[in-house]
Amino acid sequence: EQTIAAIYKNPTAFYNQKVRLSGWVRNHRAGKQVGFIELVDGSYPESLQLVYSADRGEAFRDVSLGAAVAVSGHLVATPEAKQAFELRLTELDLVGGTAEDYPLQKKRHSFEYLRTIAHLRPRANTFQSVFRLRSLMSFAVHRYFHEKGFLQVHTPVLTASDAEGAGEMFQVTALDLDRLAGQPPAALDYKDDFFGGPAHLAVSGQLNAEAFAHAFKNVYSFGPTFRAENSNTARHAAEFWMIEPECAFCDLDGLIDLAEDFIRAMIQTAFEEAPQDIQFFNDFIDDGLIQRLEAVQAAGFSSMTYTEAIDLLEKSGQSFAYPVSWGLDLQTEHERFLTDEVVKGPVFVTDYPEDIKAFYMRGNDDQKTVAAVDLLVPGIGEIIGGSQREERFDLLAQRLAAKGMSTEAYQWYLDLRRYGGTPHAGFGVGFERLLMYLSGMKNIRDVIPFPRVPKQINF
Ligand code: 4AD
Ligand code: MG
Repeated sequence: EQTIAAIYKNPTAFYNQKVRLSGWVRNHRAGKQVGFIELVDGSYPESLQLVYSADRGEAFRDVSLGAAVAVSGHLVATPEAKQAFELRLTELDLVGGTAEDYPLQKKRHSFEYLRTIAHLRPRANTFQSVFRLRSLMSFAVHRYFHEKGFLQVHTPVLTASDAEGAGEMFQVTALDLDRLAGQPPAALDYKDDFFGGPAHLAVSGQLNAEAFAHAFKNVYSFGPTFRAENSNTARHAAEFWMIEPECAFCDLDGLIDLAEDFIRAMIQTAFEEAPQDIQFFNDFIDDGLIQRLEAVQAAGFSSMTYTEAIDLLEKSGQSFAYPVSWGLDLQTEHERFLTDEVVKGPVFVTDYPEDIKAFYMRGNDDQKTVAAVDLLVPGIGEIIGGSQREERFDLLAQRLAAKGMSTEAYQWYLDLRRYGGTPHAGFGVGFERLLMYLSGMKNIRDVIPFPRVPKQINF
């Protein structure tokens, strides 16, 4: 059996050959003399045109939109027609028909509507491209780090410590199964003591990755992370995937080099291995996409300190909704101004005030800022957050205390500074934000197969 992608990639190899395929009907026009079926199988942005003559009878004519079919026929070149080739059908098996209320009609549906049918959404052409890209990039992330000699570490999803110290965790409790039978949900007892202490869903794998970096030097984790951030924005999700490299014997400059190399490699992979999908995004989602990504590959990334960024924002003469002043965090509108108006490309912002960053970031000599770095990109804002870590035991212990965190709970983490500690650094890439950057998709809900955001956990 062939795929539509294989045919598009080398049609001449199939001309006048018998070809077998299976997939779903995207469109069907049954004319008086001839019928046309557009077949899709998830392998390629284009559909394959299947043609039959009307005398093939009811079996062919009754196939409705959305039906699953297995077909065979001969592929013929059609140089005069809109599409370069078509499949002249000889056999068609209706594998699964569709009910009349099939929600995906021929017309273009809004992304908002498609979110309400997330189980059928992957069949819509935009989402075919989105999820092909997601799969490819996931593979490319592993390949990138594997080729650079990084060890992959599966950091836990269930954790005790708050890796960001931001208090945005989901708590996990065990249902008491013995009492479950026959009881309405409200009457269920929850066991808080399953682990002998509170358990949470991981907000980041970083702290565990640091432990592994002190045994394997260069490591990365790539998995789901969870934030109980009640921000209903187009770039926040309660469940998202994060790529987190962590490197021992590495400082902030080394980390920034890695981050730029990584993003460039991902852009290159998208261009080389998903050219049709990228073209689709450029044609239908964001008409500046290809030009923008090509410009990035040609020009490189800028960088500035947080203090320089605040200075630029203050002098910009712009009126922002949120205040700008040294010590306050950058809001999305500020980030967007820097990337879209000032730099017109990706920019690393470094050395943020200690007070607005996490407890583990390494203090700078000025006693005010930490060796942090965020990568901001046009249209989105922050896609990477990272830092050199505080490797000095006393300073880290002080920082924990100053932030009101228990040194007891982080004893194991402090230990890494007592036993063969090194200057080390790492960052986290929001995988969905990377996908938004590569596709031009505007809402994080539209690059996650089954998005989890506040007030929504269907499917
Ligand atoms: O900046 P963050 O919070 O950094 C960390 O979690 C570090 N522990 C990473 C590290 O150094 N190993 O998150 C990293 C990235 C952000 O830049 C953003 O791209 C993404 O994760 N992110 C989110 N993506 C979607 N929805 C959310 N709620 C996100 N929160 C963070
Ligand atoms: Mg951040």
